[in-house]
Amino acid sequence: MRQLKGEKVRKIPIPLTKTIFVLTYRTVNMIRATTKTNKVRFVCQQCGYVSPKWLGKCPDCGEWNSFVEERVTEATPASSPEREITPLPITHINILHLPRINTHLEELDRVLGGGIVPGAVILIGGPPGIGKSTLTLQVLFNLAQQGLKVLYVSGEESATQIKIRAERLKANSDELYVLTENEIENVFQAIEQTEAKVVVVDSIQTMFTSTLSSAPGSVSQVREVTALLVRLAKTANVAMFVIGHVTKEGAIAGPRMLEHMVDTVLYFEGEKGHPYRILRAVKNRFGSTNEIGVFEMGNAGLKEVKNPSEFFLSERPLNVPGSVVVPVLEGTRPILVELQALVSPSFLAMPRRTSIGIDPYRLNLLVAILEKRVGLNLGTQDIFFNVAGGVKIDEPAADLGIVTAIASSLLNKAIAPEWVFLGEVGLTGEVRAVVQSEIRLIEAQKMGFKKCILPQGNLKNLKTQPLKAIGVTKLEEAFEMLLQ
Ligand code: TYD
Ligand code: MG
Repeated sequence: MRQLKGEKVRKIPIPLTKTIFVLTYRTVNMIRATTKTNKVRFVCQQCGYVSPKWLGKCPDCGEWNSFVEERVTEATPASSPEREITPLPITHINILHLPRINTHLEELDRVLGGGIVPGAVILIGGPPGIGKSTLTLQVLFNLAQQGLKVLYVSGEESATQIKIRAERLKANSDELYVLTENEIENVFQAIEQTEAKVVVVDSIQTMFTSTLSSAPGSVSQVREVTALLVRLAKTANVAMFVIGHVTKEGAIAGPRMLEHMVDTVLYFEGEKGHPYRILRAVKNRFGSTNEIGVFEMGNAGLKEVKNPSEFFLSERPLNVPGSVVVPVLEGTRPILVELQALVSPSFLAMPRRTSIGIDPYRLNLLVAILEKRVGLNLGTQDIFFNVAGGVKIDEPAADLGIVTAIASSLLNKAIAPEWVFLGEVGLTGEVRAVVQSEIRLIEAQKMGFKKCILPQGNLKNLKTQPLKAIGVTKLEEAFEMLLQ
């Protein structure tokens, strides 16, 4: 290989058979070699907006005081003359079917769309202490047990700390390599050395490339390091899990562009003080984004929760006004969740409407329907709404459950615990059919529910009736039955 100017002397000779890595290495070196003189620019640390001079307020995202001076050795990537550029007719392209890598964590595999795609870059975001390092270490151990070479790169913790965690997880394997490093070029060298096929980078904010002089964690570094990782993943077919910190607002720190660069974005969430964790796909080039994976944090790491309905209903209070159960679909899976409403007289001119787990606009709309179509007086009431267990519902099939919970709390009448509710509510108070009602009812029956109120439109099309189903066309019909 041509020795480029300024390149570090390589310690390990590389056999010719591993040309794939040589190619990647060259890409990095080429960027290094083609650096120009130093320049100064100011980058918004919130959104990545670049300005030649300092600004108090970012014209792009509106954030105040977010510009930081960065001294850049601007890179102009050289074109590689040896590589032939030939566009192909689409009919001439052969699909390379690479089998997905199974992590043996069913909950994660489902969220990924059926396992890890070789060469995919998966960004995992989540608040500190939620279990991102734990999850990824467990995944690597599972893969190592299948005989796959894997590498865990940490820029945050020492090797001893990682070892202590691994002991807790009983994750000991000769195929599981650990590296504590912050410079991305050295990480590439380690990948080459270990021939790892799956790599975890914990975390992207602690990594830096020597081509930029800005501090690790700055927008430019995060963006550049991610770009290099993506390029390596694609050329050398190495799957990457990249851990990202989240900002106070809950988005992955760094420019939004980060999410566009990777193949999959997963968020790992959970409530403080609760052992359960939800893994949610917000972007997935290789699968659906509706799937969630549920885990429980225990003494020996994360355990899969195979039956989330049971989990979410385990602490449900019975015969209490304002509590209602609905079967929602999370991807392909029906899950029963508990909705809770608290309606109490307000002392404010503008009563409060607070919702956790459902869209606040949806809550306002349903409250207006309850006022106008059913005649409930909610204008003087504060309404607090919560979906128990930290689940987020974004399908209208839960509407009937939401309005029932609010009405039940207002009228102080408990709904009998054997009921579930299904149906979208329209502006005229009509109850509309929802998709896949049957699998939801089967799940409800499995969990011991006996009766269901659902849209008449769904009742007609049910092939089997797993539980006693009552069809309604209007909100009033449902309420007459329940709250008289
Ligand atoms: P960690 O994976 O370090 O979180 P993150 O990388 O997202 O910051 O997990 C840290 C928390 O998980 C910590 O509070 C301890 C807890 N934990 C357990 O409860 N059980 C375990 O087996 C492990 C490894 C961690
Ligand atoms: Mg961590």
